[in-house]
Order: sequence, then C-alpha cells, then structure tokens
Amino acid sequence: MARYKPWLLCCFILAGLICAVAVVCLCVATLVDRGCPSGSFRHAAVSADSQLCSEVGRDILQQGGSAADGAIAALLCTSVVNPQSMGIGGGSIITIRNKTGNVEVYNFRETVPQTYKPDLLKDCPTTFRMSTGPQWIGVPGELRGYWAVHKQYGKLPWAKLFEPTIRLAREGIDMPPFLANLLNNPLVRNHVEKSSLCKVFCNKNKTILGENDILKFPKLAETMEIIAKQGAEAFYTGKIGHDLIADIKATGGTLTMEDLKSFKVRVEVAWTVPLGDTQMHIPPPPAGGAILAFILKLMKGFSLTPSSLDGYQKIQTYHHYIEAAKFANGQKRNIFDPVFNGKKGADHLIDPSFINRIRERILSNTSHDNSYYNVKPSSDHVGTTHVSVLDEDGLAVSATSTINQLFGGTIYSPRTGIILNNELSDFCQRADTVRAGEQPPSSMTPVILESKSGGLLVIGGSGGSMITSAVALSIMNRLWLGMNLKDAIAAPIVFVDSTNNVNFEPGFDKSVKDGLKELGHKYGDWKYFFNVVNAVEKENGCIAAVSDSRKRGVSAGY
Ligand SMILES: *[C@@H]1O[C@H](CO)[C@@H](O)[C@H](O)[C@H]1NC(C)=O
Ligand SMILES: *[C@@H]1O[C@H](CO)[C@@H](O)[C@H](O)[C@H]1NC(C)=O
Ligand SMILES: *[C@@H]1O[C@H](CO)[C@@H](O)[C@H](O)[C@H]1NC(C)=O
Repeated sequence: MARYKPWLLCCFILAGLICAVAVVCLCVATLVDRGCPSGSFRHAAVSADSQLCSEVGRDILQQGGSAADGAIAALLCTSVVNPQSMGIGGGSIITIRNKTGNVEVYNFRETVPQTYKPDLLKDCPTTFRMSTGPQWIGVPGELRGYWAVHKQYGKLPWAKLFEPTIRLAREGIDMPPFLANLLNNPLVRNHVEKSSLCKVFCNKNKTILGENDILKFPKLAETMEIIAKQGAEAFYTGKIGHDLIADIKATGGTLTMEDLKSFKVRVEVAWTVPLGDTQMHIPPPPAGGAILAFILKLMKGFSLTPSSLDGYQKIQTYHHYIEAAKFANGQKRNIFDPVFNGKKGADHLIDPSFINRIRERILSNTSHDNSYYNVKPSSDHVGTTHVSVLDEDGLAVSATSTINQLFGGTIYSPRTGIILNNELSDFCQRADTVRAGEQPPSSMTPVILESKSGGLLVIGGSGGSMITSAVALSIMNRLWLGMNLKDAIAAPIVFVDSTNNVNFEPGFDKSVKDGLKELGHKYGDWKYFFNVVNAVEKENGCIAAVSDSRKRGVSAGY
C-alpha cells in the first residue's frame, strides 16, 4: 500500500498547483478588470442618443447579434424615441470596420426623385428657418440600406431587430424629456400643431403632448410589423410603398413607386486618412468626412498637447481651430455627389500639400475678412442622430441617420405612420442645380479611428452644420488634448457658422472668448446648439462608451 503514497502525494501537489494557478489567474483577471476605469465595459457597447435605444442595441448584441444588428435595432428604436431626428422615411450613412481592418461605407442617403420641382432651389429659405413642403422630400433609403447592411453583417434574423421597437411604438413610451422640451419651444410647438404631425404629437385638444403623457405610434407599429415579416421590399415595392406614395401625392409631392423601386444603396470603400499614428476612416462625398479630415489634418500640424489648453495657449489653440473651420467653410461647395459631378470634388481636402499651403495661411495673431477664406454664403441646418457600436467579435459600426431638419419637412404619412424627410433642402446654397438620382451634400460623418496600438474609436455626431465642429473638437480633445472620452465630448464647443461668425456654446471659457475677440473674430448669436456626439472606444481591452448628455443620452454595454 505504501507504494501508492508518492502517487497520491503527487496528486495532492498537482491539485495544489492547479488551485494555485487558478487563484493566480483569478487575481490577474480581477486586476486586469480593475485596470479598466469604472463604468467601462469588457465586451461590447452601444452609444445611441437615448438610454432606451442604447439598451435595445445592447440587448440585441447579448442575444448574439452583431454590431450591425445592434446599430439597426438602436436606430429603429431612435425613430420613436427621437422621431424629430430620424426614421424610416429618411436616409443614413454607415461606416463599418470588420475585425481584420476592412472598412466599408454604406451610403443610403436620400436622392432626388425622377420628377421634381424644376426651380426647386428658388424655394430655398434665405434666413434660418425650416424648409417645409413636399418639394423637399427625397427618396427614402433607410430600409433598403438596413437590408443591405444586415445581409452582409447581420447575425440575427431581420424580424428580431424590429421586435423591441414595434413593442415600444404600440404600447407607447413615456414622453422622452428631450422631445418634451423641444415640443415646448414656441417655434416647434407652432410648427407641429399646424402640421399633420399633430396626429401623433398632439392630444385630443390638438395641442402638443406634455412631459407626463404617453407617446404612441400605432400606425408605425403596424408598418414595422409588415416590414419585419416581409422585408424591406414591403416598403420599396409592396403595400407600404403604395400607401406612402399615395400620402405623398395627397400633399402635392412628386415621388412615385418607380423612385422607391429604383433606389440603390451605394457600398463604397472608406477614405482612409492618416492623422499621425492614427488612421481615420471617413465616408467619401457627399458625406462630410472630407471636411472633417481637412480640419483635423490642419490642426495636426499645430502639434497639440494637453498643455495647449494652458493660459494663452488655449486662446491660440481655439484661434487656430476657428481659422481652420473658416477655411473649411470655404471648401463646402466642393462636397457634392461625385456620381453626378465627376470624381474630383474633394480629393484635395486630404492632400498633404494643399493642407500645408492652407496651414501657412493661418496666422497666429489675426483673423481675416471672409474673402480670405473664399467663403460664399450658405445656410446652416440642425437635426440627425448618431449611433456607435462595437461588438465582441470586433465589428465596429458608426451610423449617422437623418430625416434632415426637426421632424423633416413636418410631413406625416397617415396611412403608414412614417415622417418624411426634407433632405433636398440640403442642396440650398451649396449647389446651383439638382438632378434626378443625385444625393444632396451632407455634414454627416460617421467615423472610425484606429491607432497603431490597436485602439479603436467609433464616433460621429448630429446637429446638422454643427456636426463637423462637434466631432472635430471631440476628436482633438481625446486624441491630442489629454481628455478622457466623456470630457472630450462634454467640453463646450465653438461653432463657426456659414457666414464665418463665431458662436460659443453656453459654458465656453470666458477668458478664451475675450482673447479670441482681440484676434479679430466676429461673434454671432447662434441659439440652436443641437450638437450631439456619441462614441465607443476600445483601448487595452477596455471599452468606454459615451452618449452625449446634451441630448440626455446614456450608453449601454456589458
Ligand atoms: C473583412 O473584410 C475583408 C474584405 O471583404 C475580408 O477579406 C475579410 O475576411 C473580412 N474579415 C472578417 C473577420 O470577416
Ligand atoms: C382639453 O381642454 C379642456 C378644456 O380646456 C381641458 O379640460 C382638458 O383637460 C384638455 N384635455 C387634454 C387631454 O389636455
Ligand atoms: C501678424 O504677424 C505678421 C508676421 O508674423 C505680421 O506681418 C503682421 O503685421 C501681424 N499682424 C497683426 C495684426 O499684428
């Protein structure tokens, strides 16, 4: 018997060793866990502009969905939680990076229908106001785009992505505080109460719903149920399409079934722009990516560091940024649909020699008249939503979606529950003609940045013309100025409007404001800071997710 003892001993020692290894592993694991800042996630995250929709996206990921599934579900949800921003009557641009680094852009922004008002651009507002009226409705690309993205990158069944939103639309949601606040704005209230939107957003007395009311979308729930069962074709060739076209006709619009049928999703290679050690993937024109890249490449040359925010240097940093933004305004007319205008509109905006030439024209001690920046007057816009998603498999999705201005052109389709876009007004002051099938230029810029060390930043924004400022400043704050993602997004922005007036978000550093005035900048009194940035970042195995608190957003992950 004694002969077996050494074996037994060995067993004990082995078992002991295994235990010790297990304990060490556990300790290391918790240590690594502790290495992630609190509030960050280990596996995946969704940053939409409401907590409800971030959670809808996260639930889809936890049910085995991909980042693409999560993004689509979160966007569908956003169409009821922030119906003023986006919906299936609009269009999107989505940048997708797969695990091995291939980056594609799915562009399903709205297009000009075959028949449109011949002198459309004569209807462009000359001051800041909403473009209402059926002449501004572009062919909605939203669902055909989701369908294409889902076909390529989806893991869950199509219908599954609609389930949470159908339930919310049917059962109703507590009036979202952001929306309640917006509806209370006298301008918006008037706008909604006088339009067909009142069917959804007003009570029996035909006055807008308040913050304690329940918001329901019964017709939209029916529509989504059909699309969930039958696929996007129900919209483009089926009953939903016919109903929608009938409603558009009733308002005097020109869209036809043929326009819906022939809508094509554009799948393109992303533009990849180096920013030092970081590669930035942007959507090509007519998206706003090239303008964003132009500003960031100009700023890269000023070698910003955290100390660029100290004392007088902070004034210089913002002065250089404002100058870059003014030159960017001078370039806006080079953003147009390349399919209709030849390929060469915006290539120079990421060309290093052009960037260097412009940077030399930025002087540290002064600003200039508008002619110096070659600015032609254009108009500014507000609206839109953005969702950033990163999943466990390393798929990254950056999705910006819109119906253009607040509630689009305030045209509601009673047969389908769909709110229609007024996207064609994006041509205003940025083009001299429009052509059937053309996409209007956009500020939308869903971005994915990757660092040499393997870090990923999935980021984008909403707020119309303010998208560029909001996203550019967030990226600068995060990459170069030493801020964490939350602070980078929360920092008050400076917005250079289309007339090159400089506008400060409430809370902006007063001493910097005063210093900038001395450098000759003219100040505007822009009141509509609807800039919102939502981002997900992965670094050293930790995922930080931030939804902008400006829109009361909260992100979700696990
Ligand atoms: C990423 O996309 C490229 C190009 O389509 C493909 O070759 C590669 O296999 C993809 N990687 C993954 C992980 O799917
Ligand atoms: C409608 O107006 C009446 C009279 O002003 C008021 O008593 C009632 O509460 C209102 N109903 C709703 C749903 O707001
Ligand atoms: C700014 O600096 C340049 C050269 O550095 C100088 O020529 C110019 O006069 C200065 N302008 C102002 C307004 O101080």
